Amino acid sequence: MLFHSRFCHYQTMILRNWRQLLFSLCFLPILIQGSSQYERKPYIVYMGHLPEDATRTHAVESQHHNLLEAAIGDHQLARVSKIHSYSKSFNGFAARLLPHEAEKLQEKEGVVSVFLNTVRKLHTTWSWDFVGMPLQVKRRSNIESHIIVGMLDTGIWMDCPSFNDQGYGPPPRRWKGKCVTGVNFTGCNNKVIGAKYYNLGEGPYDANLSPVDDQGHGTHTAATAAGVPVTGASLYDLGKGTARGGVPSARIAVYKVCWSIGCSDMDILAGFDDAIADGVNFISVSVGGASREFFKDPIAIGSFHAMGRGILTSCSAGNDGPYTMTVENVAPWILTVGASVTDRQFTAEVALGNGKKVTGLSINTFSPGKKMYPLTSGALASNTSRDSFGNASACEYGTLSEEKVKGRIVYCLEGMGGQDYVIEELGGVGTIMDIPEPTDVSITTLIPGTFVEAFSAGKTIELYINSTKNPRAIIHKTTTRRVPAPFLASFSSRGPHILSPHILKPDLVAPGVDILAAYSKLTTITGYPEDMRHNVFNILSGTSMSCPHVTAAAAYVKSFHPDWTPAAIKSALMTTATPMKIGRDKLVELGAGSGQINPTGAVHPGLVYDIGIDSYVSFLCKRGYNNTVIGLLVGSKRVNCSTVKPQPGSDGINYPTMHIHLMAHNSSISAVFHRTVTNVGYGNSTYKAKVTAPRGLSVRVIPDTLQFSQLHQTKIFKVVMYGPPMPKETRIYYALLEWSDSRHNVRSPIIVYRPPSPPRGT
Ligand SMILES: *[C@@H]1O[C@H](CO)[C@@H](O)[C@H](O)[C@H]1NC(C)=O
Ligand SMILES: *[C@@H]1O[C@H](CO)[C@@H](O)[C@H](O)[C@H]1NC(C)=O
Ligand SMILES: *[C@@H]1O[C@H](CO)[C@@H](O)[C@H](O)[C@H]1NC(C)=O
Ligand SMILES: *[C@@H]1O[C@H](CO)[C@@H](O)[C@H](O)[C@H]1NC(C)=O
Ligand SMILES: *[C@@H]1O[C@H](CO)[C@@H](O)[C@H](O)[C@H]1NC(C)=O
Ligand SMILES: *[C@@H]1O[C@H](CO)[C@@H](O)[C@H](O)[C@H]1NC(C)=O
Ligand SMILES: *[C@@H]1O[C@H](CO)[C@@H](O)[C@H](O)[C@H]1NC(C)=O
Ligand SMILES: *[C@@H]1O[C@H](CO)[C@@H](O)[C@H](O)[C@H]1NC(C)=O
Repeated sequence: MLFHSRFCHYQTMILRNWRQLLFSLCFLPILIQGSSQYERKPYIVYMGHLPEDATRTHAVESQHHNLLEAAIGDHQLARVSKIHSYSKSFNGFAARLLPHEAEKLQEKEGVVSVFLNTVRKLHTTWSWDFVGMPLQVKRRSNIESHIIVGMLDTGIWMDCPSFNDQGYGPPPRRWKGKCVTGVNFTGCNNKVIGAKYYNLGEGPYDANLSPVDDQGHGTHTAATAAGVPVTGASLYDLGKGTARGGVPSARIAVYKVCWSIGCSDMDILAGFDDAIADGVNFISVSVGGASREFFKDPIAIGSFHAMGRGILTSCSAGNDGPYTMTVENVAPWILTVGASVTDRQFTAEVALGNGKKVTGLSINTFSPGKKMYPLTSGALASNTSRDSFGNASACEYGTLSEEKVKGRIVYCLEGMGGQDYVIEELGGVGTIMDIPEPTDVSITTLIPGTFVEAFSAGKTIELYINSTKNPRAIIHKTTTRRVPAPFLASFSSRGPHILSPHILKPDLVAPGVDILAAYSKLTTITGYPEDMRHNVFNILSGTSMSCPHVTAAAAYVKSFHPDWTPAAIKSALMTTATPMKIGRDKLVELGAGSGQINPTGAVHPGLVYDIGIDSYVSFLCKRGYNNTVIGLLVGSKRVNCSTVKPQPGSDGINYPTMHIHLMAHNSSISAVFHRTVTNVGYGNSTYKAKVTAPRGLSVRVIPDTLQFSQLHQTKIFKVVMYGPPMPKETRIYYALLEWSDSRHNVRSPIIVYRPPSPPRGT
């Protein structure tokens, strides 16, 4: 289960060759920590909505203290045990507790949940053109400049041209946030209007106590969302172009909740508590961890209260694909974002002494100084004088002979990783690393390097090495090439998810592979301290990178429709998204949701599937939450699930997609989805339903024509589905409902998921 710990969960690609390194660095503290029932540990006591009479913070805080004192039974101990009160946007506190005290608190009136604090991980130029938003796209910059995007991340590096505030007026009047200064951080400007850091989780001891970003992640995501255009941006000339955010006029508010060890639940909640109260319009969270029940999950809790205040939260879906059931951040009020591959690929070519050439994926910023270098392989360079421990063919740490590596390019079979680091340390001049399957991500190497497919390019290299006494090779600097796209990135996490079995997650995808954006000079471009390359731009991949694209797209839509609810904006982005190409991966719809964002299309969706707080209440009633709990969540004593008109149908929520998760591999299909659409297109319009469904799945839309006579009018319809059990070889059915008035196409994917058949004989 260690693997499911939230430690080190940045949703940037954890480099294949870093896995080992990260594993040892990240999991060690947990192993040492041990566990004891007599040891106080930080817990979060979540209490829902702020009480209506909570006009003063200290009233809420004394409520927290009274609860704590009652649970601990000692006034003084209760005082020192409390870590933090959440009292601006929702109610709760963090405290060091013993397990039995946590249990006691769980029983108290007014408490929704009590859960152990855990640490979550963090999960351009080109990408914006790729989704149809060229630099000159029609904008409402004056409205856009009133939009504030809140980033919960690793902080920000201000000395980047992407955050230049030239030409920006003062912050919007509703802004109530602060800018905290500290180590390497002298203050904000009219672009980055707020910055705070949260260290309740007691981040690393050597950290810079300030909002400064010493990891590059937060700088990259903030610039992707709302950086100003910077011409001639590149990583050592790679990816050269104009780097810019999706809403360059919008303001950025930074909440540093992540440190080198990860992002603790307490800090994430504190960031949400402030961001909501400060007046941000959007919250972007490129962070995740194994999902827990909605109200024991800080991101689900924070985004729920954000939604209640009209703030849409977008979150990364995770980088644990291509496996199914890996998606994170699945609450229905979150916009869950997977990663797509753009049409620009970064490759580095290898030329061999025999004239043959092979191409691999990598971000190799180095130009070779010579025409050719001696080439060897891990197998040939192994240190024969030591007992074999580790795999020399894969160039594992401690297996190679310095003598045989120095001055050479080393070819390595697929291993546990870190080969560029190993070869660098032994004085090698380059490395060619095997990867087992074709991939779609280019990784930055510490020394000249590239990743080649084992069965084709790898074999060619090995044959050449075997065929000659003095093999030679050269690794060229990376160049870019065009490839067909968009595709779902192989690493992007897929559904379905047990917590939201009837809600298709991720909701949509956005570019998340090889994204060039601003970066922090306090770290190196690979993150290795041995690396000497510091740059204000870097190329990164991960759902971390796709999430801020969607945050910005949502802000862009809002600049045209300032009064739209979070759910309406989300619906507009989803129903106008471009469906993914089906590639190697047949279960692509479980990872791509509605498809890739089309921000300009989302400004004119025609119809929206709106969801208000009342609908979420009925959804929660249907989910089995009781009156007391829902009353606490929404801050009303009057919630009564028996009188709340239950949202009918299989999912009980007006979601823009439809998803059936069959209970058993041999269940037959029978479901009904009730939906309400709001006309936001033209006053007088008629929409007709068109359904595309595979054989074996019957889909009826009733009624199949919707006649609107005015704007904002709503119409209801239902979708009835049935079919026999799915054939053995089929895991999903993909169908599509499209409402069309000839000017708009309002698309909703419909996905039926069949769990795997039990193994034969059981
Ligand atoms: C960051 O702050 C430290 C300590 O004040 C200082 O020594 C260092 O030069 C600063 N680094 C940069 C890149 O500004
Ligand atoms: C080979 O390994 C041995 C034992 O670990 C070590 O002492 C020696 O220096 C290594 N030789 C080279 C050439 O790296
Ligand atoms: C070393 O790694 C390669 C590539 O993963 C593998 O094919 C080979 O069997 C391994 N050798 C040993 C001795 O484990
Ligand atoms: C290259 O030579 C090694 C050692 O003799 C052998 O194990 C390997 O299979 C050869 N590779 C190819 C591709 O022939
Ligand atoms: C409501 O649910 C909570 C949590 O499941 C439980 O502790 C509580 O006793 C329930 N209240 C009622 C009135 O059923
Ligand atoms: C909830 O509504 C039902 C049906 O109207 C009623 O019987 C019940 O007393 C109500 N419960 C509360 C706690 O008000
Ligand atoms: C479905 O399969 C289970 C065994 O996996 C079996 O017990 C059950 O009877 C089957 N149901 C139908 C309707 O075939
Ligand atoms: C709406 O469209 C119908 C049919 O095209 C037309 O007869 C009617 O006048 C239109 N009404 C308005 C208010 O434009």
